[in-house]
Amino acid sequence: MVHEFDAVIVGAGGSGLFSALEASKKARTAVISKLYPIRSHTGAAQGGISAALGNVEEDKPEWHAFDTVKGGDYLVDQGAALLLAEDAVQAVYELENWGLPFNRTPEGRIDQRRFGGHTRNFGEAAVRRACYAADRTGHMILQTLYQQCIKNEVSFFDEYQIVDVILEGNRCGGVVAVNLATSELHVFKAKAVLFATGGFGRIFKITSNAYANTGDGPAVLARRGVPMEDMEFYQFHPTGIRGLGILISEAVRGEGGQLFNREGKRFMETYAPTLLDLAPRDMVARAILTEIRAGRGMRGDKKIDDYVHLDASHLGKEIIMSKLPDITEFCKTYLGVDPAEQPIPVQPTAHYAMGGIPTDLDGRVVADGKGGLYEGLYAVGECACVSVHGANRLGTNSLLDLVVFGRRGGKHIAEYVQGADSPRMGKDPAEPSAARIRELMDGKKGPQAGTIREEMQVEMMEKVGIYRNEGDMKKAVEKMQELRGQYREVRVQDTTGTFNTDLLEMIELGNLLDLSLLTAASAENRKESRGAHAREDYPDRDDANWLRHTLAVLEGDDVKIDYKEVDTSRWEPKPRVY
Ligand code: FUM
Repeated sequence: MVHEFDAVIVGAGGSGLFSALEASKKARTAVISKLYPIRSHTGAAQGGISAALGNVEEDKPEWHAFDTVKGGDYLVDQGAALLLAEDAVQAVYELENWGLPFNRTPEGRIDQRRFGGHTRNFGEAAVRRACYAADRTGHMILQTLYQQCIKNEVSFFDEYQIVDVILEGNRCGGVVAVNLATSELHVFKAKAVLFATGGFGRIFKITSNAYANTGDGPAVLARRGVPMEDMEFYQFHPTGIRGLGILISEAVRGEGGQLFNREGKRFMETYAPTLLDLAPRDMVARAILTEIRAGRGMRGDKKIDDYVHLDASHLGKEIIMSKLPDITEFCKTYLGVDPAEQPIPVQPTAHYAMGGIPTDLDGRVVADGKGGLYEGLYAVGECACVSVHGANRLGTNSLLDLVVFGRRGGKHIAEYVQGADSPRMGKDPAEPSAARIRELMDGKKGPQAGTIREEMQVEMMEKVGIYRNEGDMKKAVEKMQELRGQYREVRVQDTTGTFNTDLLEMIELGNLLDLSLLTAASAENRKESRGAHAREDYPDRDDANWLRHTLAVLEGDDVKIDYKEVDTSRWEPKPRVY
């Protein structure tokens, strides 16, 4: 079946919905999503969205931009960071005007809380910059944007899994997707396609990411030769529920929660004397793992799955219930722990991809290190790399990235499609996908997909995790090449058409393997430590050789590396001290 729209948005999280909303003001717009839209992973973002509103203390977009650049260990494109911080204020008020139920100050303004790495006056002390709706901020953003999209008559294709992009040279003409209800392939022809498919935390064993976060957009594009930017920078959030990885919001520390080791010491005093528990995430995650490796985790056995304590009990039941109700429920359900009475056992959890599909400030996909662009092809949100997060994202800047660049991408599309011709397509653009699905369903017996997935996740966790070294990463690259070989032989067990989750999981596994290989190869290539990329064999940041973005191109089982310049036009890179 073929559908035709001016604009097709792939993904219905915050960035996809914001893009759709803007595009739909001037263009016939469709959203295709593997999930029912309001189940998208934006809904799992808890603690807040940053904007220098200055509602509870003095703040400025310039301070916000500087914190973003410093937090990202100077790999951030500085013009993009300034734009992010400046557009933040209007974006948050726009959400408020559409009815988003933010928490309020006694005077009725949007309330703001502290978050890691956000400071006043270029690092003096923590500042209250995160606007929030209890610990359900992402959920509220999703609801608000979905309502607006419905009002604007955006067409939704729910439970459609993207499998291919239609590219003729550098011109995009649409996408191919599977209708999960029937297993039929659909072609979506469009003048402009925007990818907003979110993250790929499922490459790791312990992650805060939902099962659906399998990097479908980046993987589909990487297989068509689109380079991936800065894939080596993957963020571990310091506080996931021990053993499960479910997010315990940084808002707990923003409200005053503190981390302790088995000796009862507030160990962040050693690692970040000024910001303490509110240092950027890369530093806090490393500090936790360093404590664990030194035998000061709660079990004391030095194994990477040991944990530390996050204590918020001194905040009292009232604050906890009014500002952190969801994490309270999670702790009770999964740990049998009430945070108002006991400390929460936490360990770092794979959380956020700083890298992804390279784009310019309007979401247009970048083709190479010289600034070449694809035509009619856009990406925004976590699947994209604009790059406002550099080597390490600050908490609350992800919801902000979604709305600021979702809005910009959608606005650009609305104008672009006015003058664009209808794209040309080959005779049967769905045939390569159809052939692959026929192969997967040919009834032969193949290797166990579950075993491949488990091996991939454990290897990535152990060898391309918080601390890295050459030997481990080389092994991880080889392992991913071997697993991709096995994957080519896998077959689905269920060959029926209706809601074939076996087929869906198989498609997703292929995407995860491609992104694991790109991540491991990019990490092995970067011979320095910066932000979330901490190499034990190259412990220092090396601006002379490595102040540049990686562009990684998938070529069969190999990865070819190129580079792209970093915009350092505003602030000179300095050592990070917190
Ligand atoms: O900790 C959190 O609430 C997560 C926020 C984020 O990743 O920005």
